[in-house]
Amino acid sequence: MIRSAIIGCGSYSPEKVMKNADFEGIVDTSDEWIVQRTGIHQRHIAAEGETTADLGEKAARAALKDAGIGVDQLDMIILATSTPDHTFPATAVEIQDRLDMRHGAAFDSQAVCSGFIFALTTADQYIRTGYAKTILVIGAETFSRILDWTDRTTCVLFGDGAGAVVVSAIEGEGTSADRGILTSHLRSDGAHKDKLYVDGGPSSTGTVGHLRMEGREVFRHAVGMITDVIEAAYAATGMTSEDIDWFIPHQANKRIIDASARKLDIAPEKVVITVDRHGNTSAASIPLALCEAVRDGRVKRGDVLLLEAMGGGFTWGSVLLRW
Ligand code: ACO
Repeated sequence: MIRSAIIGCGSYSPEKVMKNADFEGIVDTSDEWIVQRTGIHQRHIAAEGETTADLGEKAARAALKDAGIGVDQLDMIILATSTPDHTFPATAVEIQDRLDMRHGAAFDSQAVCSGFIFALTTADQYIRTGYAKTILVIGAETFSRILDWTDRTTCVLFGDGAGAVVVSAIEGEGTSADRGILTSHLRSDGAHKDKLYVDGGPSSTGTVGHLRMEGREVFRHAVGMITDVIEAAYAATGMTSEDIDWFIPHQANKRIIDASARKLDIAPEKVVITVDRHGNTSAASIPLALCEAVRDGRVKRGDVLLLEAMGGGFTWGSVLLRW
């Protein structure tokens, strides 16, 4: 059977680093509060004029270089973002143009912090049906542009960044010993749409709006939803937490990550953490963390990787793959 394997990855973080202490003159907060409640020490912030397409393009070029392929071999670009450069066209099309890709198709996918899991699963479906052979999947965000910088309950949590992977068709046996994506599970429940949202939009207010969140409510649902899609991945493959080499969760809050790993019996040394340095970069967070763990040699060929995310909507999902 056809499997989708990640054959290259790349990432980019804006140069400007904002430390927790830098908030102290902006809102009533402290480094101690932010670290204790979230595990975040710093985040990267896009420079003036630096857009989601700029970040996404850099991550995309790095992923293509890592995969050792040119754009001529790509059939599709899927960009996961909630902070596009424009209402339309899709920011994926902007990146397609910059890469000088004159064939195939490019489009954006919107599932907020679960965006990368949704985009990767979409790519996997196109590949396994034979519609496409090689797809560039990008997660890129400039959340700093939709934050209310007077609201201490949200502005300290997020950052900007981008990560990308090249996914390509390979032959597999149809067993969990295969390389590539073994299973994925997507969920959403719009009953929770008001707990984490942006209070603007082209069809409602005609403005971009700002991020609003009931943090405690998000926290309350997060661990259960994450566990739900991970247990679905285990049921589909016959694997258990014992089989996982690397747990690469969406990086929103270290307390959520730790609680999820504890509940699932995943050893702390198997958990990849970048939230301390990046904050919550929404759809960019998983590919940023994945690329770091690949680059520093933690992730090796044959390793089993468990990716998961939960975000606005609510949306949530998991991908289990063998590297
Ligand atoms: N600095 C200082 N004090 C603060 C800050 C801040 N930045 N923010 C809130 N507080 C205060 C509150 O006002 C409150 O004060 P009060 O008791 O006088 O009313 C107190 O701290 C406690 O507030 P809580 O909201 O109860 O704090 P909590 O421990 O729940 O932590 C947090 C808040 C970090 C937002 C937590 O709820 C959380 O992580 N929730 C999940 C958020 C998340 O992960 N969202 C993203 C997931 S989805 C996606 O990625 C888009």
